[in-house]
Amino acid sequence: MDARHAIGTSLSLTEHLRHHGPGPRPGPRLIEAVGEAGLTGRGGAGFPTAHKLRAVAEGGRRAVVVANGMESEPFSRKDQTLLALAPHLVLDGAVLAAEAVGADRIHLCLPATRTTQLHALTTTVAERRSAQLDSVPILVEAMPHGYVTSESTALVHWLNGGPARPTSAPPRTHERGVHGRPTLVQNVETLAHLALIARHGPHWFRQAGTAASPGTTLITVTGAVRHPGVLETEPGTRVSTLLQQAGGTDQPLQAVLLGGVAGTWLRTPFALDLPFSREGLAPHAAPGAGIIAALPHDACPLAETARILAYLAANGAQQCGPCRFGLPAVADDFSALADGHATPEQLDRLHRRIGLLPGRGACRHPDGAARLAASALTTFEADVDHHLTHGPCGRPTSLPVPAPTRTEHWT
Ligand SMILES: Cc1cc2nc3c(=O)[nH]c(=O)nc-3n(C[C@H](O)[C@H](O)[C@H](O)COP(=O)(O)O)c2cc1C
Ligand code: SF4
Repeated sequence: MDARHAIGTSLSLTEHLRHHGPGPRPGPRLIEAVGEAGLTGRGGAGFPTAHKLRAVAEGGRRAVVVANGMESEPFSRKDQTLLALAPHLVLDGAVLAAEAVGADRIHLCLPATRTTQLHALTTTVAERRSAQLDSVPILVEAMPHGYVTSESTALVHWLNGGPARPTSAPPRTHERGVHGRPTLVQNVETLAHLALIARHGPHWFRQAGTAASPGTTLITVTGAVRHPGVLETEPGTRVSTLLQQAGGTDQPLQAVLLGGVAGTWLRTPFALDLPFSREGLAPHAAPGAGIIAALPHDACPLAETARILAYLAANGAQQCGPCRFGLPAVADDFSALADGHATPEQLDRLHRRIGLLPGRGACRHPDGAARLAASALTTFEADVDHHLTHGPCGRPTSLPVPAPTRTEHWT
């Protein structure tokens, strides 16, 4: 996306314009170009961006653009890194998207807790305003920070004056979002790619990546690697190569968690050979927002999973049954299993409870937790048996999982 990433300095507006040239004028062909480029969303679900642009553009009313810079996934750092190093690329993309869909404002949503980032982007936006760079106003929004406050309907709910809790769809945000208007919610990395496609064209974009997952992508590698952090890579690169690019490991790995806290555990060495792309990981896993968490051989995978489930349970919006009852019950059962206190009957109950989570909430939060829990029980079957018969294994945990503090502030 930019060579400067390698040395970690932020591009000022002057440097950005010198490096990338003046912002391209949005043509009527931009949506088509994004479609030809095959750009997919980098916020987790991988939805084709051109489909969303088209739906919002054809919404029949003045539209709104929401740039999702919340990055609530605890293992991810890519959006914070991108916003720190190439903020103008993201903002160029947001303005181009707004012009393409006929929007009259852009809300850049950031967590209120990241004060340095908020300050930096407020300054960046003001600098662009003074330079009269943007045809559409950009409003920097300081949103409540929590795992689900960054979900698209939660952003819209909050921008409409409500709590930042997900709401059930339909109507979908592209049909009726902010102030009832068609609303394009797009991850900030997606917008940066859009800005580059507008400048260099779809053919240029497709020179990287695979036919099904074109372009480059930002990923975060965390856990037992020497240099945890963010990489710009091509989809389809093998998991083992990405671990090497993150400095390699000091100790053998037993597994990787792919896709983040709502992702899937896979054992090594099987996982190491897989191409890290949506199609390359299917049907075993998905890249989510581009996360690889490396688990060393001496960590307890059940204790790691129990910590993540406790975090996810604490971070539900407590509106729907699965968030209020199902997810905390699964987290408790898993914790008992990791502590070596569970009985075979509890394990049966845990399997049943996990099966009841997906598809029942107004958003996908419980589905992600169920995926993680189910993958742990399958991938670490031998560890489950060991904990049932011999009690706790005493191995440590090592992943940077946040404390299970309940999201308190929704407004
Ligand atoms: C629980 C939950 C949390 C989410 N958090 C984020 C987030 O932090 N950043 C983000 O861009 N998308 C997040 N998403 C996805 C958004 O709802 C939305 O699909 C995305 O911003 C669309 O942008 P994209 O198409 O460019 O990926 C989350 C989804 C769920 C279900
Ligand atoms: S499933 Fe949970 S997070 Fe999603 S809308 Fe319902 S209560 Fe909120």
